[in-house]
Amino acid sequence: MASREQGNQTFITEFTLLGFGNPPELQTQLFLLFLVIYIATVVGNMLIVVLVLSDQRLRSPMYVFLGNLSLLETFYTSTILPRLLASLLSGDRAIAVHGCIVQFYFFASLVGSECCLLSAMSYDRYLAICRPLHYAARMSASFCLRLVAGCWISGFVSIALIVFLMSQLTFCGPREIDHFFCDFTPVIKLSCSDSRPMELVTFTLSSLFTLPPFLLTLASYICIISTILQIPSALGRQKAFSTCSSHLTGVTIFYGTLIIVYLLPRTETMRALNKVFSVFYTVLTPLANPLIYSLRNKEVKGALRKAIGKLFV
Ligand SMILES: *[C@@H]1O[C@H](CO)[C@@H](O)[C@H](O)[C@H]1NC(C)=O
Repeated sequence: MASREQGNQTFITEFTLLGFGNPPELQTQLFLLFLVIYIATVVGNMLIVVLVLSDQRLRSPMYVFLGNLSLLETFYTSTILPRLLASLLSGDRAIAVHGCIVQFYFFASLVGSECCLLSAMSYDRYLAICRPLHYAARMSASFCLRLVAGCWISGFVSIALIVFLMSQLTFCGPREIDHFFCDFTPVIKLSCSDSRPMELVTFTLSSLFTLPPFLLTLASYICIISTILQIPSALGRQKAFSTCSSHLTGVTIFYGTLIIVYLLPRTETMRALNKVFSVFYTVLTPLANPLIYSLRNKEVKGALRKAIGKLFV
């Protein structure tokens, strides 16, 4: 019976991404806003990659992580913003089904890798601040390399499973995706196949990628903060605290919005807010991270000053 039904159905090969509803009078403003954000994100992150790779003093694991995070975030926003900008500019909101799945694959893999990398970074800070005597032994160059490689690989491998399941689905309409990129839930909602098995796999994987890193980060910070409180000088305390608090804010916003969007049950209010929360982790996190992690850092600032000096001499 299912096959007879399928015989009558026309399968969809294209979706329409509704974006932000695209009211014509807002289109230009939205385009300019996202264009500025995109340029700032790419320039900020690439600057850090170049500094980390070129400056001999930025060789410690912390900067290896930072360089990789910035590289990752450049790719990450590039899976979403150029497509959004093109559709705001041209008004063409159509996207092929396989294009949609490819976008989801790269986007989701990079989210997974980023979660992993952020927790590696907080583990690194935990060792440096709370276990300074063991730092060199535990965070060796080879361990750091394995952590970084493991993070990149685990994201791309685990999402390949979801995308494989996703490519087995059929879509027979409606074709409108009420979102600004091809995210998992809005796409799955349009499928006319049974999507429960893959929803289960996805729920499990997204729990694995968000909750343990989040808890690990939280635990590291609890320990970091209690160590900072023991610093005798008020000035030193304040300084250590200011870097940590911006890390903590950035990480909380990233994991918090991911958990809200992917793990919490989908009530009506949540669905309306979904797009807003998605802007946080897709657009604002990559924009803010270079500022949060690097440009407030003295060594990075020093390297930047040196590089600019060289450029003009
Ligand atoms: C990323 O990590 C690898 C492996 O540790 C390192 O060799 C490379 O320099 C890092 N990349 C950047 C841009 O920092």
